[in-house]
Amino acid sequence: MATRRDTPKTDAAQMGRRKGEQPAMSAQDKSEFVPVSPFEMVIFGGTGDLARRKLIPSLYHRFLDRQFDSQSRIIAVSRSDYSRDEYITKITEAFKAFHPNEPFYEGAWSNFCELIDYVPIDVMDDKSDWDALSAKLNDTKCVRIFYLAMPPRMFAPICEGLRDAGLASKTSRVVLEKPIGTDFDSAAVINNGVGAVFDENRIYRIDHYLGKETVQNLMVLRFANILFEPLWTRDSIDNIQITAAEHIGVAGREAYYDKSGALRDMVQNHLLQLLCLTCMEAPDSLDGDAIRTEKIKVLKSLRPMSKDNVGRRTVRGQYAAGEVLGEKADGYIEELVGDKKSKLQDGDQSRTETFVAIKTEIENWRWAGVPIYLRTGKRMSDRFSEIVVQFKPVPHSVFGAGTTLNPNRLVIRLQPDESVNLWVEIKEPGAGGMRVKSWPLDLTYDEAFTTRYPDAYERLLMDVVRGRLALFMRRDEVEAAWTWVDQIQDAWAAKEQNVRPYPAGQDGPNEAQQLLELDGRTWWRRPDE
Ligand code: BG6
Repeated sequence: MATRRDTPKTDAAQMGRRKGEQPAMSAQDKSEFVPVSPFEMVIFGGTGDLARRKLIPSLYHRFLDRQFDSQSRIIAVSRSDYSRDEYITKITEAFKAFHPNEPFYEGAWSNFCELIDYVPIDVMDDKSDWDALSAKLNDTKCVRIFYLAMPPRMFAPICEGLRDAGLASKTSRVVLEKPIGTDFDSAAVINNGVGAVFDENRIYRIDHYLGKETVQNLMVLRFANILFEPLWTRDSIDNIQITAAEHIGVAGREAYYDKSGALRDMVQNHLLQLLCLTCMEAPDSLDGDAIRTEKIKVLKSLRPMSKDNVGRRTVRGQYAAGEVLGEKADGYIEELVGDKKSKLQDGDQSRTETFVAIKTEIENWRWAGVPIYLRTGKRMSDRFSEIVVQFKPVPHSVFGAGTTLNPNRLVIRLQPDESVNLWVEIKEPGAGGMRVKSWPLDLTYDEAFTTRYPDAYERLLMDVVRGRLALFMRRDEVEAAWTWVDQIQDAWAAKEQNVRPYPAGQDGPNEAQQLLELDGRTWWRRPDE
């Protein structure tokens, strides 16, 4: 078995350094990993994509950084009849395939694998042998965690199986992957099923965006600086834009995606969470319930959508064939036709949106009248997630009619090229009169910090072990988000709102530009992009 001492020191140090080459800026630049209590983590869906691509590698990184040691255990569960050795071979191959740019430390990896066990169980089969899992879980001193990396319809049956096998002890925790249902009703059924076994404060609903460094920074930026708060209102802010654009299409996930679409897949969770963190009131502490109570107020204040306003306030798009990053890319329908598991809904068509843009508003005293534009899409020209807070113009220009003044903008680039830029107007230096220019006060993470940014799952998994709920969604939050998303989905159905095609590799359909142009605005792009 591995011990802390067995993990080569150099490995951890190497990993910490790989993000950049410039010297550390200050002592604050050094991350410190506070060790967590020993745990037993059971991963249902242990052979699945998420476990192999994200969960196991994330746990490995935390082990490399000595955040836990050989007293902790990871037990993968899946119905495949593998031996432990076969499972270890699978995850080793997966680590190398999914993380080709990461150095592979043979010794540390094999020490980590010593902590892993594998149990084949078909959780949907009544005759399944849960005793095999019980036999592995004998350490009552450990924090016990059940991670359900499975389709949501299985959440409740697994929880019942755990209860009947006597494994859902009073202190154990359960982690649920998104999507929690496909609408309010299905989410309520899942929440009831899981809630019948686990108390709410032992349920960790993952939205991996909340584990991203730059998303956590939103709270610090807003609530650790006095600068923004007086301006953070309808009096000074003209509009807010939140974008999550991706290059990738849906290849490999057609069967899931065609029943979901961009609204359910990205807006219901990630984009609404970003909107909440951007617009919520200051919580009275970092306590999970304090934060979540503020977020839910935002969700409940979103302007209702109905068939009377949805046409003016939303745009649905679907990618057609095109070119992404210089390579030909199939359209969404061709991908569906090529995938044997997905069945087209309507002859050779599908009305699933791979792009959505929404204009909304938060109906409260702070935000009334400030448009908030959300947009997400697959097969876009660029890959980035960003929040743009655009301030109002100055009330009067003293620079004369010949000088155009651009509004200030706070641009928070969540990924990639993480940065915070405050765009201000400055005098362009030099002779030749008073020339005004927009220029960013630029905090680019790669230049400022040399720390490696942990994957979102690394932070979230360790927070589950610590019992910190702040970065996880409470039941009422998930349900409030579905209530609003259901209104849009129902209104689209009632209106039979068109899904506009856009060529792969472009910024969604033209109507998405018009959504802002009708308000005299445009989606912001850096002047040099
Ligand atoms: C997932 C969605 O939740 O988030 C995917 O299901 C999407 O469709 C992904 O690609 C985006 O996550 P990230 O971290 O790559 O921005």
